[in-house]
Amino acid sequence: MTSEELAEIGLRFEVGGEIATITLDRPDKRNAQTFATWSALARIGRTLPEHVRVVVVRGEGPSFSAGIDLRMFTTKGLPGQGSFASVAALDGETFLARITEAQQGFLWLRRPDIVSIAVVQGHAIGAGFQLALSCDLRILADDAKFCMKEAALGLVPDLTGTKPLVELVGVAKAVEICLTARTVGAEEALRLGLAERVVPRERLDEAVGELAAALLTTDRAAAAATKRLLLGAADRTLEEQSAAERAEQAERLRALFGAKGAARRDGSAQS
Ligand code: CAA
Repeated sequence: MTSEELAEIGLRFEVGGEIATITLDRPDKRNAQTFATWSALARIGRTLPEHVRVVVVRGEGPSFSAGIDLRMFTTKGLPGQGSFASVAALDGETFLARITEAQQGFLWLRRPDIVSIAVVQGHAIGAGFQLALSCDLRILADDAKFCMKEAALGLVPDLTGTKPLVELVGVAKAVEICLTARTVGAEEALRLGLAERVVPRERLDEAVGELAAALLTTDRAAAAATKRLLLGAADRTLEEQSAAERAEQAERLRALFGAKGAARRDGSAQS
């Protein structure tokens, strides 16, 4: 997608070296998200340049994101995108396909070959909170406020946020946060494991730069293999996980010290 097309949707996408930055860029509407936002995010994921290792997701202005564009709740809806009423009128299969496509905008941020960082200032509500949860890591400004508002609006969080939320805070705390739709401030988020770091707002860029630089110091293939192991750990038994570690290490050792790896290290590789 061209930068003009992205700008119309309220997004910016920039690549600098191995770091890509996605910016929600509709600050006057607190970076409210639409189906077009999610399709564009999915497209960015599908076409991400291969050399990118770190993806930073941020929001322009006072809020990270105020969640879904509330015009979806009106009868008129969003120009060219309909409303919840028109989505609800779709046949079952088309309806589910629409949500599946929306979820694709979030799911790729967990890919093992990249590390994604959400940079959150101000409000991250509903879809905004879920977008932050879909990233591997979260750096927060001290004014960050998370709120899973869906239940208060008669909906469920369906943009892939429930699993990472439970993994980070546990089922009981996730139930309490979602079913009260209360606001979780930055310090509590840090305590609960919803953030890696909280910094004064004016230090946000610096903190993200430091983290991205640190992530780029490790070997890319080893980082991807390690992320695969970590992401799969919760669903495997200890024995299965040990087997997965062995398999990944065998692959690493072959790449580093096998015939081809040795040749590469000696500088004698032909290709
Ligand atoms: N959709 C559309 N427009 C929004 C918006 C949203 N979600 N949130 C804010 N805006 C607009 C406001 O209408 C206002 O526009 P105008 O200047 O044209 O009047 C502008 O953004 C600024 O808003 P505020 O003056 O309210 O800004 P604030 O900084 O004082 O407050 C806020 C920020 C706390 C985020 C507040 O705007 C707010 O509560 N917004 C609604 C949040 C919400 O309920 N989101 C839905 C979450 S549920 C979800 O996302 C469902 C899902 O995934 C399926």
